[in-house]
Amino acid sequence: MLILGIETSCDETGIALYDTTDGLLSHTLYSQIDMHSEYGGVVPELASRDHIRRVLPLIEQCLLTANLSLQDINAIAYTQGPGLAGALLVGASIGSALSFALKIPAIGIHHLEGHLLSPLLSKPSPTFPFVALLVSGGHTQLMEVRGVGLYQLLGETVDDAAGEAFDKTAKLLGLGYPGGPALAKLAEQGTPGRFKLPRPMLHSGDLNFSFSGLKTAVLTLVRKQEVTPQIRADIALAFQQAAVDVLTKKSLTALAQTGFSQLVVAGGVGANSQLRNNLTQQAKLMGASVFYPPLEFCTDNGAMIAFAGAMRLQSTYLNKQQLGASFNIKPRWNLELLETPANNL
Ligand code: KG4
Ligand code: ZN
Repeated sequence: MLILGIETSCDETGIALYDTTDGLLSHTLYSQIDMHSEYGGVVPELASRDHIRRVLPLIEQCLLTANLSLQDINAIAYTQGPGLAGALLVGASIGSALSFALKIPAIGIHHLEGHLLSPLLSKPSPTFPFVALLVSGGHTQLMEVRGVGLYQLLGETVDDAAGEAFDKTAKLLGLGYPGGPALAKLAEQGTPGRFKLPRPMLHSGDLNFSFSGLKTAVLTLVRKQEVTPQIRADIALAFQQAAVDVLTKKSLTALAQTGFSQLVVAGGVGANSQLRNNLTQQAKLMGASVFYPPLEFCTDNGAMIAFAGAMRLQSTYLNKQQLGASFNIKPRWNLELLETPANNL
């Protein structure tokens, strides 16, 4: 079964073709980062308009790369939520229109389910059950994953998401958007131990996170002194170290609590190499392994949506899918409320 994946929930147009026998055949991505960076963050209306411009040419490009045509596609998976309403509407309407025209099923995918299952795209891949750390610009969650659609929230942020904290801190340090990769790069020049920042909720006794205090602590540091280029790098490193420490400690506690031996890291912050190194080293000490999607699939992409669609469409859930005569989007959508495919019940 060949699935076309369409991701348009935020500022990246991602398209992919995934075959349930041959795996990922092709994928393309257009990032709107340059356009939004002028404004210091994503401008929703500009994002929607740009998705409209990109989706069809990217689908054509993807088909061309795989040497396939629209008629070869058996089903369409599009991101139905959560995300920016206007941006989601682009993918949902194009996916549904294609489904209607080609007389094939269309399935709406939860963006975070896409992230969560994306490590299964690489080899070696984890097997169910596992703990997932979802760290993106909008979410920071620890999830117990027993199968497709079997997700239980173990803990989440009570305020800012980890990626949001990276982005806001980067802004305080005068770095552009998106701040996460820029801050991580600057941190490479930082002096270890020069500044020590708080580790919010490290000992809270639960698996929740808080990042807004950390950002405020950075603001205080920035205001207290003249910020030379070296001091900026030192603060960036101190921030990254604090965020990574909390994410690592809580992830390991989640592994201990569930008794699972596999941790999957998904979402844009999963691209952070200090987080990767820390988690891998410390998980090893407790006999657990950590799985990361390939870097290109850490941030938003179409491959994870096509793949999540494939997992769902292969189950009996398929029978309930309608041709795309009508569709809706879910800008806010609780991952735990996702329908569990019947063969997983
Ligand atoms: O998953 P994602 O592409 O988009 C959603 O939010 O859904 O995640 C984007 C987030 C941004 O906040 C970005 O700054 C952060 O991931 N990010 C990073 C790194 N690369 C991306 N944060 C820290 N270190 C990185 N290397
Ligand atoms: Zn995302």
